[in-house]
Amino acid sequence: LAASANSAAVAGIATAPTVESAPLTILYGSQTGNAKGVANKLKEQAQARGLSVQLVNMADYKPANLKKEKFIAIVVSTYGEGEPPEPAEALHGFLASKKAPKLDGVKIAVLGLGDTSYEFFCQTAKDFETRLTALGADVLHARADLDVDYDAQAATWLTGALDAFEPLVKAQAAATPAAANPFAVVSAPASQYNKQNPFAAELSVVQKITGRDSTKDVRHIEISLEGSDITYLPGDALGVYFLNDEARVDEVLALLNLDADAQVKVGEETLSIRTALIEKLELTQSYPGFVEKYAEVTANAALQALVADKAALREYLNERQIYDVIKQNTATIDAQTLVDCLRKLQARLYSIASSQAEVEEEVHLTVGLVEFDAFGEKHHGGCSGYLALRAEEGAKVKVFSEHNDNFRLPQNDDTPVIMIGPGTGIAPFRAFLQERDARGAAGENWLFFGNPHFTQDFLYQVEIQGYVKSGLLTKVDLAFSRDQAQKVYVQDRIREKGAEVVAWLEKGAHLYICGDANRMAKDVHQALVDVLVAHSSRDAEQAEEYLKELRAAHRYQKDVY
Ligand code: 2AM
Repeated sequence: LAASANSAAVAGIATAPTVESAPLTILYGSQTGNAKGVANKLKEQAQARGLSVQLVNMADYKPANLKKEKFIAIVVSTYGEGEPPEPAEALHGFLASKKAPKLDGVKIAVLGLGDTSYEFFCQTAKDFETRLTALGADVLHARADLDVDYDAQAATWLTGALDAFEPLVKAQAAATPAAANPFAVVSAPASQYNKQNPFAAELSVVQKITGRDSTKDVRHIEISLEGSDITYLPGDALGVYFLNDEARVDEVLALLNLDADAQVKVGEETLSIRTALIEKLELTQSYPGFVEKYAEVTANAALQALVADKAALREYLNERQIYDVIKQNTATIDAQTLVDCLRKLQARLYSIASSQAEVEEEVHLTVGLVEFDAFGEKHHGGCSGYLALRAEEGAKVKVFSEHNDNFRLPQNDDTPVIMIGPGTGIAPFRAFLQERDARGAAGENWLFFGNPHFTQDFLYQVEIQGYVKSGLLTKVDLAFSRDQAQKVYVQDRIREKGAEVVAWLEKGAHLYICGDANRMAKDVHQALVDVLVAHSSRDAEQAEEYLKELRAAHRYQKDVY
């Protein structure tokens, strides 16, 4: 009760006339930079229309400012099982809390970015719209939920949203004296190469770094950026385009009785169906939209029935790549119709495993091969299969760098860091260590790493041991889960070293987690709460609050997938 009375009072203040200008506030919540890119376009187009705008990363947005807003546009992506990207978490949580203010009269427009391969498609965008309207805001322009190939639809949405905002924002600006926009947006210098215009880089090294008897196949990849102006920082990701498996493409063509040379159009480009299927279209990662379209054009009653049953469709797609759906449902279909069922092949993002301070014009990745058996056949992930198995050293691979300001070393080289990165989650920490080594950073470094077996799966063992010897790594804690009867995970090591973890945090350490989002990152978070309770005077709620403060201060950062 007290809380709601409070927010009503606050809303009262907000609706009183103020002398501040009321620009359009664009909030973005972006993990890999897609939502940020779209939000930036929205800002540019709004400015071109003469609107006063501020563009703010949700991670840096002060929820108290909500009371001053009149026009809010939101561009936000969704991850995993309907979760917000990390930088959006705090605001997402705040809007659902009792502290959220009334937003009567505020006009909003929400754009969601997502991936229809996942069940909770664009859930975060839906949440933001639901929560804001529950607080009293009005939807000024209808939400759009966009799939991975979003460019054209995003452009349409931006125009529509700005057509709706423009007259209102201008009327508001005319009614209030102008104030200087205090929110200068600093953007990093961009390379001429990006997602739309990738650089054809030489793949120079592909090296298996798990043992012969490992259950996993992890590759250390080196790519040359020579001849490009691509730069990156530790914490950034590399976008990689790949080629589909030619053998599987030929199999599909044969099963559908299609002439490999039949000409098709993909976007503006005309090319053979075979080249289109190898280079331009998604054939591995399955998603409902494909089945829907394919069922319709092939008049396949069984597939159509499946499309109507969401849960069954999910299950069906869980064990099938797009190749499998086609192979198990052959039909008479012309090449262009098939193309029109498929979505454009999307680059895959990998956390970069190197620092340019150490490797200069190279970029290194740590790639886990996605591999499984189904329908009597080996299946591989699209990009990991390409990099690990099909591409030869010397091949040209189309890449671009994707900046990630949500995963950065502390600016102060003396600040200690705790890095938790089991499995391929080690990648950005190899970059961090290279960087701190090259800089001669004095801050202490503590690494938690885990994988199934010491002899098979100790990724970058020689380097890590070298860093321990040189003193760069102050502490290393390893969790080889299957080397003993009882599973041991990184979070168990965190609990064992709880007092020291808390002491490091209290002396200002930054904390980083990279790797599996669904289980590991959550279990590690819980372990952090538990050690704070055990080794400081906090209860569970205060421990959560403390971790939230660390998040807000950019001292607790996650790169999870
Ligand atoms: P497991 O496969 O033996 O269960 C990298 O994948 C490492 O993370 C593996 O050792 C794996 O153990 C472990 N792992 C699996 N689930 C985990 C979880 N919930 N938290 C932390 N580590 C986990």
